Amino acid sequence: MTLSVTIPLEFYTSARATADTVGARSIRSWLQLDIHGATIFNIPLGPRLVQALARRTQLTLGTGCYSAPMASVIVHPATRVHGRLRIPGDKSISHRYALLAALADGSSTIARYAPGADCAATLACLAALGVVVNGPHDAPNGAPDRRVVTLQGRGIGGLAPPSLPLDAGNSGTTLRLLSGVLAGHPFDSIITGDRSLRRRPMRRIIEPLSRMGAQLSAPDDRPPITIRGASLRGIDFTPPVASAQVKTAILLAGLHATGETTVRERQATRDHTERAFPVFGAKLTHLDGVITLRGGQRLRGTNVTVPGDASSAAFWAAAAAALPHSDVTLDDVGLNPTRTGFLKLLERVGAHVERIDTTEEGGEPRGSLRVRHGGNALLELGPDDVPSVIDELPVLAALATHGGELHVTGASELRHKESDRITALATGLRLLGARIDELEDGFHVIGDRQLQGGTADAAGDHRLAMAFAVAALGGARPSEILNAEIVDVSYPGFFDVLKSISQR
Ligand code: S3P
Repeated sequence: MTLSVTIPLEFYTSARATADTVGARSIRSWLQLDIHGATIFNIPLGPRLVQALARRTQLTLGTGCYSAPMASVIVHPATRVHGRLRIPGDKSISHRYALLAALADGSSTIARYAPGADCAATLACLAALGVVVNGPHDAPNGAPDRRVVTLQGRGIGGLAPPSLPLDAGNSGTTLRLLSGVLAGHPFDSIITGDRSLRRRPMRRIIEPLSRMGAQLSAPDDRPPITIRGASLRGIDFTPPVASAQVKTAILLAGLHATGETTVRERQATRDHTERAFPVFGAKLTHLDGVITLRGGQRLRGTNVTVPGDASSAAFWAAAAAALPHSDVTLDDVGLNPTRTGFLKLLERVGAHVERIDTTEEGGEPRGSLRVRHGGNALLELGPDDVPSVIDELPVLAALATHGGELHVTGASELRHKESDRITALATGLRLLGARIDELEDGFHVIGDRQLQGGTADAAGDHRLAMAFAVAALGGARPSEILNAEIVDVSYPGFFDVLKSISQR
């Protein structure tokens, strides 16, 4: 049965949220936006986004017909993982390309746009700001992961005022980066998100963007965030926390500002923004952690291809490193050194990691990765190691449960991710049978026992759902992961891939 709701939105002649349901289960849902009968925007949606849309528009999506497609998943123990895979497009890079394309003069196409709900939220927000977004559609060459999205840019400062609060869903990157953009637009906007996002700290962007001349406020420094955009002036800013989101928000605001904007990083964070700006025609300098950009530059539309997401690849790389006789090849993965700290750590514990056919496109290094099990030695990580593996710490903890040991300190930022990733990680791994101590700013996993298997809650956090699955591969019996549908945030289809490469 197909359930469909039509919603009037300002920029479109019609908008329709549709869910295909079987009984009470939704199997597929998407949002379609039309102008005069032509579909200009058609994105698959996670159930949360459809429900949020329904809430916002006071419409009911057929009582009883709508439920999460996959509340819990059983993960069976495996003796090894084996196979060759393509990983979905990189989430961080997709967000940045979409925002720059929206601010560019002319049209841009982004191939292999990340398929998860986070990057769909960025497109939905841009559409609500008047950007004509077409797709993502499957590319004409038919390769299933080459989803192409086209955006008609509106130029720097050219976004239109939104008629409703913007919904970033679960995506901190959408909310923080878009805040930097909207700080330089002369209108008021509100950005909100789901329950997880509404508990995440925003002072880190409110303070510098206010110094640049915008007015921002958020109750208790958490979303919803209200932005009164203004004419901005450049600043010289040293973020107190290592954060690529904060850096990027300031640089995006700096594009709209007079004079120069400088961000000084005490610790290097992912540098996709610095690499993407020149691809869209903007100049910046980047030397020894100091990034400087002149405001008022124009961007030009372009065609780009996103590499596979290194953070998603990390789950399969860790599974291969964990299980003897495993051999996994991951094709066309982003190999940006600010994202591949985990590969060095896999090598340090004894895994065999090969980088194959490496190239560079759009300023981003990429190539295939082959990972095979070797040893699983002790790893000690401190504050200097954390920024380059911030998103991979949960799966490195999962790897340690397979007979290794991981001691992490200096990672209190984990408490401000999609969940409190220290408490939720320790709780979940313990329920699967692991020995893990929670520290104020990290954790300590001692993999001296086989996991018994058990039931762990993903706690609204996509990376925890996937990390628990990697840990559960080593269980004595099958494990259950509750609320596992949250993987849709970054890796729809994760559990199908897991099944396809696991051997019992
Ligand atoms: C991201 C930066 C990191 C990371 C997040 C994506 C980005 O967050 O954890 O998943 O795309 O800029 P922080 O900037 O909060 O460290």
